[in-house]
Amino acid sequence: MSTVAPADLDSADRIDALVHAFYARVRPDPVLGPWFTEVDWPHHIPRIQAFWRGVLLGLPGYEGDPMTAHIGLHRRKPLDPAAFDRWVALWTDTVRAHHAGPKAEEAIARAGSIAGVMRHRVLSAAASAG
Ligand code: HEM
Repeated sequence: MSTVAPADLDSADRIDALVHAFYARVRPDPVLGPWFTEVDWPHHIPRIQAFWRGVLLGLPGYEGDPMTAHIGLHRRKPLDPAAFDRWVALWTDTVRAHHAGPKAEEAIARAGSIAGVMRHRVLSAAASAG
């Protein structure tokens, strides 16, 4: 009878589950899938979970540098604006499919701004890489 309102994205467990849901969409995606064929998932998933727990909840655990990681990725398999647009669209859809609330909106906004900086850095690093 009653509809259960979607929860906010406001706990480590919910972030961990969301990251799984997101990469379950990324892997078969025709645009993004090709970048992820050689990913070591048992290594990658915990890093991404820790990254988002840090971004959204301020929890420690991620000690990496996503900008450098994606510049390296770009050198192996060039990224393009369409890939960034698709990443942001899939992230937004996945968050909205599971969650609603201020932290969910923060996750969407932060992803959009990080993706914008990353796109700029990655594509201009490529231009100057020689
Ligand atoms: C064009 C869009 C993107 C593609 C194709 C992409 C793909 C990838 C791939 C293939 C890896 C490496 C996985 C591995 O082998 O360990 C990775 C790592 C990562 N990605 Fe992305 N990514 C994209 C955008 C983003 C954005 C916008 C964010 C954050 C908002 C993000 C966050 C991360 C993080 C935190 C890591 C882990 C880096 C580390 O190991 O420290 N990615 N990404």
